[in-house]
Amino acid sequence: MAHKPIIVVGRKLPEAVEARLARDYEPRFNSDDKLYSTDELLALCYGADAALPCHSEHFTADVIAKLPDSIKAIANFSVGTDHVDLIAAKARGIIVTNTPNVLNNATAEIAMLLMLGAARRAHEGDAMIREGTWTSWSPAFMVGTQVTGKRFGVIGMGRVGQVAAERARGFGMDIHYYNRNKLDRALEKGAVYHESIEDLLPHCDVLSLHCPATPDTIKLLNAERIKRLPDGAIVVNTARGAIIDEGALLAALKSRKVAAAGLDVYAEEPTTQSTFKDQPNTFLLPHIGSATHDTRDAMGFRALDNLDAIFAGKEPGDRVA
Ligand code: 8YV
Repeated sequence: MAHKPIIVVGRKLPEAVEARLARDYEPRFNSDDKLYSTDELLALCYGADAALPCHSEHFTADVIAKLPDSIKAIANFSVGTDHVDLIAAKARGIIVTNTPNVLNNATAEIAMLLMLGAARRAHEGDAMIREGTWTSWSPAFMVGTQVTGKRFGVIGMGRVGQVAAERARGFGMDIHYYNRNKLDRALEKGAVYHESIEDLLPHCDVLSLHCPATPDTIKLLNAERIKRLPDGAIVVNTARGAIIDEGALLAALKSRKVAAAGLDVYAEEPTTQSTFKDQPNTFLLPHIGSATHDTRDAMGFRALDNLDAIFAGKEPGDRVA
């Protein structure tokens, strides 16, 4: 290739990542950090060699079909790849990569924040102070759920799930999990494996979701399954909103079958009309699981390592298609 590879950068990235991009590539930066329309994204891809999108840029089968032949790779700045049609990319010979591992700690931290925030009614307390409505106190005031010594259930005991389990052990919690494959004993660290989600659910005082959104996991947590949780369970989701039937969870929060939910991800994002916005027993964050300075840098460098390998004619470390 005579020129430096031209890279379409989906969103504004950390300074150090953009500096490396500018040094090694010919980047088409998104300096205003605007959310591109499909047409804008396709226009930017014209004549480019690769794209470096976030989960906010959707490479559906339709978009992939319209990409110019010059696009060799989609190097995601994300671990989740549900915004890219991997089958369509593969069919066109476009390499797709993601950024695993580097966001495990940041996301597990947010899972703990959501668990504690939901269990101890952080949103209600915070609102009381800010709105100036904290006028009394009694032993019955703002009583929540204690998680210490309880059971922490994980669906999807992959990289993030394992770190979240490790952090939950810090609260003396017993770990139960469902995963497509049982982990080796060394990785399980005493966690109890359940062969099905149905078997796992009755053992979850806290249920934390860590599986990707795939056709198999859409609305995985539905009304039938919620019934199997212990009364007063806490639900935590740092994975993808699509894996919860939000209507079913809202009904369970209203009936208090589920005592509280801590959510960072939603079926529709971003939104000003969240299903949960008027439900007090929720602790809600706007998809910031990996939003730390350290992790954002690491995600960018990982995406660039993948691009470097691709343009050096080597196999990228994190190829998903
Ligand atoms: C990222 C995420 O912030 O990496 C993922 O899959 O869900 C987030 O933590 C986002 O996807 C960046 O594109």
